[in-house]
Amino acid sequence: MIWITGLLLTGLLAMFYIYMRRTRRRNEPPLDRGRIPWLGHALEFKNDAAQFLTRMKQNHGDIFTVCVAGNYVTVLLDSNCYDAVLADTHSLDLTPYAQLLMERIFSLHLPNHDPVSEKKRVALYFKEPNLSQICISMQKNLHFLMTSEITQETAEWKKDKLFSFCYTLLFKAGYLTLFGTANNNSATLTEVYEEFRQFDKLLVKLARQTLPRDERRIASSAQERLWELLCPAYLIKGAEAQSWLQTYLVQLEQLGLDTNMQQRAMLFQLWVTQCNAGPAAFWMLGFLLTHPEALRAVREELQGLKHPLSKRENTPVFNSALNETLRLTAAALIVREVMYDKMVRLSSGQEHLLRRGDRLCIFPFLSPQMDPQIHHEPEKFKFDRFLNADGTEKQDFFKEGLRMRYGNMPWGTGSNLCPGRHFAVSALKHFVFMILTRFHLELCDGNANMPVVDTSRYGFGILHPAGDLEIRFKPRE
Ligand code: HEM
Repeated sequence: MIWITGLLLTGLLAMFYIYMRRTRRRNEPPLDRGRIPWLGHALEFKNDAAQFLTRMKQNHGDIFTVCVAGNYVTVLLDSNCYDAVLADTHSLDLTPYAQLLMERIFSLHLPNHDPVSEKKRVALYFKEPNLSQICISMQKNLHFLMTSEITQETAEWKKDKLFSFCYTLLFKAGYLTLFGTANNNSATLTEVYEEFRQFDKLLVKLARQTLPRDERRIASSAQERLWELLCPAYLIKGAEAQSWLQTYLVQLEQLGLDTNMQQRAMLFQLWVTQCNAGPAAFWMLGFLLTHPEALRAVREELQGLKHPLSKRENTPVFNSALNETLRLTAAALIVREVMYDKMVRLSSGQEHLLRRGDRLCIFPFLSPQMDPQIHHEPEKFKFDRFLNADGTEKQDFFKEGLRMRYGNMPWGTGSNLCPGRHFAVSALKHFVFMILTRFHLELCDGNANMPVVDTSRYGFGILHPAGDLEIRFKPRE
């Protein structure tokens, strides 16, 4: 007993010592350690990172350092200098943090893994001529699922929850497009989706290592079942040559990974490619259903298209509504390990020193996306925010007279830029087009409001809602 008490005391003293030892050096950003030794601001960060970082920004400005569970994290919120800072890949390395998350969430260890060249390989896959092929394949799969799963026999109204309605369809169509094989039947597809959702719901806690024991069991069981369902040997048989799957498996074999690690890597890719489109479709349809003037404008534009599936079709109203949806809901964090002391220059001309061993964190959701100096009433959905008065796409945004490099950054930037963005936009456009033109879709409660966001998910891509919207739909005659 004395032993344990002694150990505990020593641990606490060590934490207190580490916490007190950190002081702000010359040229470093303002330091805010929080009140609790070692933990610092971890709880506020975990519960609602956006609210916490907004408060810090009000207190300290566009750059500050906070203590989060023993790590010192410098947060940079001046979006005009993101690209210049991130370009220094020598001082700022993305690998250690990416590997930490892969280990924690996917139990995945990729030796000799070079995320930068991996990102280049993936980016090539999502370019022409492949891009057109996978966009068409996605459209066919969406069409197949809508006719087979939601329009069966009925001219009656069907009820559903909008989030699961959107996530199911986009996930299944995306899975068939990128991972699909000739062997996939409807029951397997549904099982993959359901296991994926179990895992996805617990993913944030896995990343933060805050899963209680019973939920850890649920996460492990979903993970193991998905590993089986994504078994490379089974998949590769039916996969098309040169498919996403084939090229990825060749890559994993070149890295020398055994089957077990290959399965884990497949689950990682499944999450990366399927976790955002479904939730984005939910927010887009949800905002349209709760903003009748936006719904009318988007529907008119899409119905007027001659070749809705063609990339050549200009859809500024749809693009603006999608941009606005993503501005309000895309909330990835960009994190780097500071390998060497580094000076960063803000757009005001001020310079600050990043300390070796700390982390750098950039949060485009707060700036530019929710910055009230860039966007008037940033918390409101305005479908035409990204439209000029003449109906063309608006690209110029200003803050205190200074032109902003970005008015919106849902796809990340630099080496964190989403390689699947063109594919995602095409899929979302096609999905919304099909729903609005082939179905009557309405809210069960015409006065329902959009649910608030699940504040624990900041940092993990498109946000999830804390509630849902009840909808009913039936095919148009
Ligand atoms: C609205 C939908 C989407 C949004 C907002 C989005 C956003 C992002 C962002 C911000 C990143 C960078 C994350 C990071 O590096 O930390 C990313 C990475 C990525 N996205 Fe997307 N994405 C979407 C849909 C998709 C789709 C549909 C695909 C593919 C089918 C895709 C494939 C990828 C891949 C492969 C990565 C790279 C991950 C890595 O390097 O570890 N994304 N996405």
